[in-house]
Amino acid sequence: MAIRNIVQVGDDVLRKKSAEVTEFDSKLWALLDDMAETLKKAQGAGLAGVQVGVLKRIFIVDYNDTIVEFINPKKIYESGTQIGQEGCLSVKGKYGTVTRPAKVVMEAQDRNGEKFRFNAKGFMAKCLCHEYDHLDGILYIDKATGVYEDK
Ligand code: CO
Repeated sequence: MAIRNIVQVGDDVLRKKSAEVTEFDSKLWALLDDMAETLKKAQGAGLAGVQVGVLKRIFIVDYNDTIVEFINPKKIYESGTQIGQEGCLSVKGKYGTVTRPAKVVMEAQDRNGEKFRFNAKGFMAKCLCHEYDHLDGILYIDKATGVYEDK
């Protein structure tokens, strides 16, 4: 496992659309393991492939100290709204106010290609939507009503 460099806003790669994962092989697993280590070191809530410069439809989230891996995720249901603060490991030193669904259901594949569904509400719903946006080149600052300096 290795810590990967987290790409920062201003780098064009963050604005690109990520591609579907088709190979569930050891190369993918190495990437996922590196992402987990990178996320832990950065003490973040989630990390998308594009944030380490890999344009694949992958993100991971820290769910109660367990890493959950989402590959080729699709939002299959969302409801309600919540307004809250968000930050991003690719937008260092800032946070912003963003409106997100209160609940979301995602369908994705795990590292072996098996499909699963994940029901999320509150903080996790916000987190999944934030990470999902990364796969389409969208950053929270595009949706935020205000972006502030974090001290
Ligand atoms: Co982010």
